[in-house]
Amino acid sequence: MDQHIEAQGDDRQLNVEPYWLPFTANRHFKADPSPRILVSAKGAYYRTAEGHELFDSLSGLWCCPIGHGHPRIVEALTRQAQTLDYCTAFQMSNPVTLRLAERVADMAPDGLDHVFFANSGSESVDTALKIALGYHRLRGEAGRFRMIGREKGYHGVGFGGMSVGGMVANRKMFATAMIPGVDHLRHTHDYAEMAFSKGQPEWGGHLADDLERLVALHDAATIAAVIVEPVQGSAGVIVPPRGYLQRLREICTKHGILLIFDEVITGFGRMGAPFAAQRFDVIPDMITFAKGITNGIVPMGGVIVRKDIYETFMQGPAGAVELFHGYTYSGHPLAAAVAHATLDVMEEEDLFGRVRELEGVLESAVHDLRSETGLRDIRNIGLTAAIDLEPRSEPGARARAIFERGLREGILLRFTGDTIAMGPPFISTPDEIRRMVEMLRGLIRAER
Ligand SMILES: Cc1ncc(COP(=O)(O)O)c(C=O)c1O
Repeated sequence: MDQHIEAQGDDRQLNVEPYWLPFTANRHFKADPSPRILVSAKGAYYRTAEGHELFDSLSGLWCCPIGHGHPRIVEALTRQAQTLDYCTAFQMSNPVTLRLAERVADMAPDGLDHVFFANSGSESVDTALKIALGYHRLRGEAGRFRMIGREKGYHGVGFGGMSVGGMVANRKMFATAMIPGVDHLRHTHDYAEMAFSKGQPEWGGHLADDLERLVALHDAATIAAVIVEPVQGSAGVIVPPRGYLQRLREICTKHGILLIFDEVITGFGRMGAPFAAQRFDVIPDMITFAKGITNGIVPMGGVIVRKDIYETFMQGPAGAVELFHGYTYSGHPLAAAVAHATLDVMEEEDLFGRVRELEGVLESAVHDLRSETGLRDIRNIGLTAAIDLEPRSEPGARARAIFERGLREGILLRFTGDTIAMGPPFISTPDEIRRMVEMLRGLIRAER
């Protein structure tokens, strides 16, 4: 079907048919694209082709914490494009990227002090998994090939990330192509024990002992790494129970297994600290990051690595390549310049401090929805929250109806299944956070 709609400021019509949208019901989108075409953005708001203003309740896709159209970013991007627009990362480098590696390492927990750049969360995860394999191999433990992920985990769409991921729909179609030797911890979400918890649930720290079960099953000597999101974002803000991450850390250390925190969502302030590792006071061996580091404006990702892991690779002839891995756009200077501008704004405006203040505002607003009918759970941590709806007969239909009504009423929401997740920009005001939740209340009532 050919759908043509007006593009603002452009007298040509848009033909939506040739575009294959990612993670989208394409036919549904193309049947009525008009309300879903965004033409501009400023601060915490988008504007649609139809002229509606939408509050950006998920900071883009968890990636625009300092809001849209920030002049510091526009300026940094322009200046860098005029100075050094590209630089190969193989055998060469440039000042902005080198300084960014130092800056990211300084923000990371003590001991994690080397940074490998990629361009997305998916690439960052696959990079971390490869570093884990290489590390064990170089130490004479090539038998450690297994990766342990977690049910409901999301680690992107590369073959590695998909394999350690635990969201069933993302795996089904590709079930025959999973990397070998992967197993999964059980997830930590339990309606009976923790529904409507504020912040970290009191119940469930013991669920980390599931790792001991997998160690007993597979033998620690075959396990390279455990990868988890400290807070599971894409599955709908599943918050780690108290003590859970600490216990995972202990078990990994005991068995010589690397612990990777996938901080693609939680990194760079979403938890009110540079990384969730600091918020939860648990230090992994590697951290993957992406999204917020560049405010989502230029793609960038990476892995922060413990010193001795990096040093393990620094052997063999000094002129030899130590890790046969990298991307044409690793540490791209435009992305690096935008990352510096983003981090400058975060520092100067103490946005991590602001997240800590807004956390309480979001928590009390969102839990105030508990009295609404048809809700199964409300969760929150940092500047994130999620609501599970009682589904209609067709799973996901209620959340989609709320999403679509939201577009007409001034809010861009994120839904997966019957879960609605929120992660507003750090620059939001307390009033905007409260208004966002009140808009959601109206939508929930309208779409019972
Ligand atoms: C924890 C986590 N890891 C990896 C990814 C994949 O990132 P990308 O879409 O940039 O490949 C995401 C994306 O949402 C994520 O949330």
